[in-house]
Amino acid sequence: MVERLAGGMATGEATGEANGPTTTLLGRPAAGYLDEAAGALAVVKREILRRLELAPGQRVLDVGCGNGTDLLDMAAQVDPGGEAIGVDVNPEAIEEATARCEATGVPATFTTASAYSLPFSDDRFDACRSERMVQHLDEPVRAVAEMLRVARPGGRILVADPDHGMWAPDLDDQEATRAVLAWWFDNVRNPWIGRRLPGVLRAAGVREVQVTVAPVVLNGLAAADGLTGLLNAVRQAGERGVIAPDRARVLQEQITAREAEGGFLMYGTIVLAEGRKALP
Ligand SMILES: C[S@@+](CC[C@H](N)C(=O)[O-])C[C@H]1O[C@@H](n2cnc3c(N)ncnc32)[C@H](O)[C@@H]1O
Repeated sequence: MVERLAGGMATGEATGEANGPTTTLLGRPAAGYLDEAAGALAVVKREILRRLELAPGQRVLDVGCGNGTDLLDMAAQVDPGGEAIGVDVNPEAIEEATARCEATGVPATFTTASAYSLPFSDDRFDACRSERMVQHLDEPVRAVAEMLRVARPGGRILVADPDHGMWAPDLDDQEATRAVLAWWFDNVRNPWIGRRLPGVLRAAGVREVQVTVAPVVLNGLAAADGLTGLLNAVRQAGERGVIAPDRARVLQEQITAREAEGGFLMYGTIVLAEGRKALP
């Protein structure tokens, strides 16, 4: 889930608009990365969908929709008579989302737009959600305030982001592991945004703010490395002097050995903060 890394570090990750849209995540095409992440986060995504309490005829907006697969699930719930719209600052993501939507025949639409300037009138949506986008933004409160603007009075706002300070890989060398994780996740613009989200929503004017912390359990190296880039993090930390090369080698060997013993384990959290727009 290192979805934005500083320039030069490795990847050209997805960014907020300050750096312009990019098209790769963890060195892979963004669409492929997001599909893999969606598998690892399936339980969290189902919980977000459940909490939105969508119903036929409602209007729902997904801000930072990526390849749009979550919006297709939402569109099915507001059908018939509803409206499901996804926006993303990355035009290639919108192109991919539109193609998937056309292939499935699900009634949803996608538009390239910034979270800071949503191309919609006030009070339009019954529910607005954003998943794993706010971590990339310079101005989280401004983005949530914009979601609030386009929500109808009483409408629901739900923002979900990881807390990158909570990752727990099954490794013995605590000092080296802490150093690698702090270095790797510091390259996300807001690595601790998860724990800040309720405050961000309140600052933006969202009412009745509630918070749920959802576990992300990554069973097996493919899941752990696919979502977080752990192996790359350890390797690069050794090469760049974050930890000594021999300690990086031991960490890599331990990851491989634990995978062979029955499956490497890593877990973390995604924070779901939600609330409502005030009634007049
Ligand atoms: C990690 S991806 C998550 C995508 C999708 N929500 C999902 O769960 O698969 C973050 C997305 O936020 C988008 N994004 C980043 N900054 C944005 C901004 N300022 N406005 C709109 N979208 C933005 C990126 O282009 C990317 O598609």
